[in-house]
Amino acid sequence: MIIAVPKEIIKGESRVAATPDSVAKMIKKGLEVRVESGAGQGAFFSDSDYEQAGAKIVPDAAALFSDADIVIKVQRPVSNEVDLMKEGAVLITMLQPLSHPATAQKLASRKISAFSMDLIPRITRAQRMDVLSSMSSLAGYKAVLIAASAFGKFIPMMTTAAGTLPPAKVLVLGAGVAGLQAIATAKRLGAQVEAFDTRPAVKEQVQSLGATFVELELGDDSTEDQGGYAKELSAEHHQKELALIHEHVKGADVVITTALIPGKKAPLLITAEMVSDMKNGSVIIDLAAELGGNCELTQAEEEVLAQGVTIIGVVNLPASLPIHASQMYAKNMTNFLLHLYANNELTINLKDEITKGALVTHQGEIMNDAVKALVN
Ligand code: NAI
Repeated sequence: MIIAVPKEIIKGESRVAATPDSVAKMIKKGLEVRVESGAGQGAFFSDSDYEQAGAKIVPDAAALFSDADIVIKVQRPVSNEVDLMKEGAVLITMLQPLSHPATAQKLASRKISAFSMDLIPRITRAQRMDVLSSMSSLAGYKAVLIAASAFGKFIPMMTTAAGTLPPAKVLVLGAGVAGLQAIATAKRLGAQVEAFDTRPAVKEQVQSLGATFVELELGDDSTEDQGGYAKELSAEHHQKELALIHEHVKGADVVITTALIPGKKAPLLITAEMVSDMKNGSVIIDLAAELGGNCELTQAEEEVLAQGVTIIGVVNLPASLPIHASQMYAKNMTNFLLHLYANNELTINLKDEITKGALVTHQGEIMNDAVKALVN
């Protein structure tokens, strides 16, 4: 079985789907691994690193894709990548099919069995394959560093001959994977940290990191679904939430927003009016920029200065930490691949929750109902 690792071609993508370590692991399981020349360059892995791990280096994408049984990637296929693949081959990558249903349609028409790493269910058994958590944790960390660098003051308290400077006040909105990592990073830098989430269940986690939990009293337990994910708030509860956030953004120096409801547009948490009430020189880093933003003034991939507040709509932060991002991604990827390739053969078991959850196209059909609804 030939596994192919192409060079990513989407602009700004520096990660790679396999590292020399993960290549060695796949080879040990009896797989043959081929890597496109330069595939690891952005993450500082050279062709010879891969060769030493046992991979064969292939000069270009056309030669690589044409023989591959399984293609493993980071980003969705673009340009002619789908056309280059063999009919009936397997593709494993972050397809984000709800945002790119046309790609799923194309994959189905080429009878490719495509798995989306970002659809792997976030269940205990699949934790080793959970790329969303891996990537969000990198993003939460990097968001704080970007904030620190855009902020015109120290983050920690400083006692100097020129006087004592107070620590920065950091407010984190949304305390899931990215938010918790942002809290931990801001604390390490010496900030005074507050965090807010609609799920009261995260209060203990926030406090265990040394931050203050900002609580919204809604009088019932309607903020979480059965899977433990946040539910959309009613209009009345959302107004209450906005009033609470308004009070807290006024005092913040840095706000990191990470609020997400799976499958929905990002909830609006900071209105333009709230921004106008923030301190001059404060900074908002919006991690939800790609999903519409948690702040009304966010523009994806842009830095906006509004009423003295810098609002940065960050995208693809994991690519800015390419070595660890590739290492974590490749580990999750190999664990998923070997889940499919248990007992030395590739099995697409539709009764398995993980396999079924991640499968987007198979035998010429779109298998995911939400994606199917988008293309019909
Ligand atoms: P997660 O699902 O672990 O956490 C999201 C949190 O938001 C949950 O704790 C949820 O309860 C909370 N939330 C939902 N609605 C809320 C509301 N109205 N008010 C306050 N909190 C609310 O998600 P994860 O993995 O931490 O990702 C967070 C965000 O970061 C997502 O938008 C994701 O797309 C984005 N992200 C961005 C990256 C980038 O490079 N820009 C990279 C990785 C993730």
